[in-house]
Amino acid sequence: MANDQPFILAGVMGWPVAHSRSPALHTHWIREHGLKGSYVLLPVAPDLLGDAVRGLRALGFAGCNITIPHKVAAMPLVDHIDPVAQRIGAINTIVVNKDGSLSGYNHDGFGYIQSLLQAQPGWRADTGPITVLGAGGAARAVLVALIDQGATEIRLCNRSLDKAQALADELGAPIRAVPWSQRHEALRGAALLVNTTSLGMKGQDPLDLALDPLPVTALVSDIIYVPMQTPLLAQALARGNPVVNGLGMLLHQARPAFASWFGVMPEVTPSLRHAIEATL
Ligand code: ATR
Repeated sequence: MANDQPFILAGVMGWPVAHSRSPALHTHWIREHGLKGSYVLLPVAPDLLGDAVRGLRALGFAGCNITIPHKVAAMPLVDHIDPVAQRIGAINTIVVNKDGSLSGYNHDGFGYIQSLLQAQPGWRADTGPITVLGAGGAARAVLVALIDQGATEIRLCNRSLDKAQALADELGAPIRAVPWSQRHEALRGAALLVNTTSLGMKGQDPLDLALDPLPVTALVSDIIYVPMQTPLLAQALARGNPVVNGLGMLLHQARPAFASWFGVMPEVTPSLRHAIEATL
């Protein structure tokens, strides 16, 4: 790399944000590619989000990630919103364009699909029914990505059926809302199961799910990464299903954001995984 390369600044806005793994992740890639730059934590209280986002350009930032609780509130603060982010209804990345305008993107769904592909290179969305548990913000990103990948049947189970129905109405076919009480039966014949609820996360109750109707060939994924092996994944592994945890989604969603700021599309390598796993 030439010595005259610019110093590039990026970061993550959240509240609180001290726990974020993003600085470790992006710093790993800055070093790996011999770039000059820094990725910093940006703790921003909700009432100051507008000031902070508008300040990105003046502070010389190439952009930033947006995390909880700002992913929806940041949308009206940017000048352009990518169509995928529009459908997801949230942004997780802001890019400061050359003309100073701000563009908002959401790479969470991309990260989810890439995590499946890294675990199972031949994976396709259209090989059978998909059962999605949960209808919150994370589910929206996963659902939009699965639809864009060509999913033909998505059974969406949520504790509050009205939220699942609203998502089915909004995002359209192939989603069908299924009552939470029918979640076990909704596994029959499925090719992919994904948990987007908080059940199974460290400190939360485990997901109560009888896997018996699920084919043993079905891919079982959990977007949780603390712990890396949720009770759901342990249960799936014990009966022989292939499994994918949530770490890959976290790592892969960061790649296109890094590329837009630093100009290099980075890879998720074993050494990056080990570095981030060591922080969990
Ligand atoms: P995120 O943005 O991470 O998706 P969220 O929007 O708070 O977080 O969504 C959490 C999801 O976990 C929701 O689908 C929620 O179900 P409800 O829509 O009925 O609230 C689900 N969830 C949380 N606790 C649950 C529980 N004890 N049983 C079943 N589902 C639960």
